[in-house]
Amino acid sequence: PPEPLQEHFDATIAHDRRIEPRDWMPDGYRKTLIRQIAQHAHSEIIGMQPEGEWITRAPSLRRKAILFAKVQDEAGHGLYLYSAAETLGADRADLTERLIEGRQKYSSIFNYPTLSFADVGVIGWFVDGAAICNQVPLCRSSYGPYARAMVRICKEESFHQRQGYELLMTMMRGTEAQRAMVQDAVDRWWWPSLMMFGPPDDASPNSARSMAWKIKRHSNDELRQRFVDMTVPQAEKLGVTLPDPELRRNEERGHHDFGTPDWEELTRVIKGDGPCNAQRIQRRRSAHEEGAWVREAATAHAAKQAARAAK
Ligand code: ACO
Repeated sequence: PPEPLQEHFDATIAHDRRIEPRDWMPDGYRKTLIRQIAQHAHSEIIGMQPEGEWITRAPSLRRKAILFAKVQDEAGHGLYLYSAAETLGADRADLTERLIEGRQKYSSIFNYPTLSFADVGVIGWFVDGAAICNQVPLCRSSYGPYARAMVRICKEESFHQRQGYELLMTMMRGTEAQRAMVQDAVDRWWWPSLMMFGPPDDASPNSARSMAWKIKRHSNDELRQRFVDMTVPQAEKLGVTLPDPELRRNEERGHHDFGTPDWEELTRVIKGDGPCNAQRIQRRRSAHEEGAWVREAATAHAAKQAARAAK
């Protein structure tokens, strides 16, 4: 690249200013952002499925309305993020193709089944809690459109997390059977939630580069630790046990020590071999195919409008 452009880019990053779509940026920076933002967008859209399955089976009108709003928010998050990817020159239709052909990733967490209504609460508490830990620092990501999308997304994620925790509090005040449902959901979602933060730092090929570019602000292990420290007191208050015999407060470190997630399981799920991968992609593919007529109609309408305006 011409030297002044590279220098301007480096200085922008060094001074914690934002890179904007019109600015020159290195190819690697652009590619890394498209990769991360697309994966993030896909996660939001695929993430509608596990909870969406409970909308028709919610136990009350109030819970149904809340869940509806939440799942709709996830669709909105996906749309902000696809728009952020478009500012980098990515094409949204192409990103969707890549997702349904299995050429682009989405978060491992959405490949686990939701077996009871307590799972809705635990997803809010753990999965949205983990998303907040991971995404609040992304509000300071060096790429402007991504950072700004994160601000709004994080506000909505906070609401999601609170609704999950409130749902669980309600169930814990209920019957013995309801408390057992909550504990069972906690047992199933704890380890996959820790895996959301990605592989350990010494096995994370992208971290060093992304942190130097200030796309990522903290390493995978730092954020995982932050999540554990945040969640332990919440579990005590709720009255559930986190399924990790090695979990204890380490006064010296000022953090909680915890056991090692099954990294082989994470690798398997990322590669497409988790409990629900095939089902999630199949559902996304059929929704896309069934929506073809809407896209055709919208395109025809836009062409007609443009022709009219040109007259
Ligand atoms: N699920 C699926 N893939 C993952 C996961 C995961 N939990 N963790 C890591 N990976 C993938 C990475 O995308 C990367 O694959 P790629 O190089 O083919 O793109 C590979 O495993 C190696 O991991 P890292 O080098 O650690 O990758 P990276 O630096 O991108 O860090 C992380 C991964 C932490 C997920 C990062 O991309 C990120 O912060 N993304 C934004 C947040 C996000 O996408 N959240 C989605 C779930 S939250 C929600 O939607 C509610």
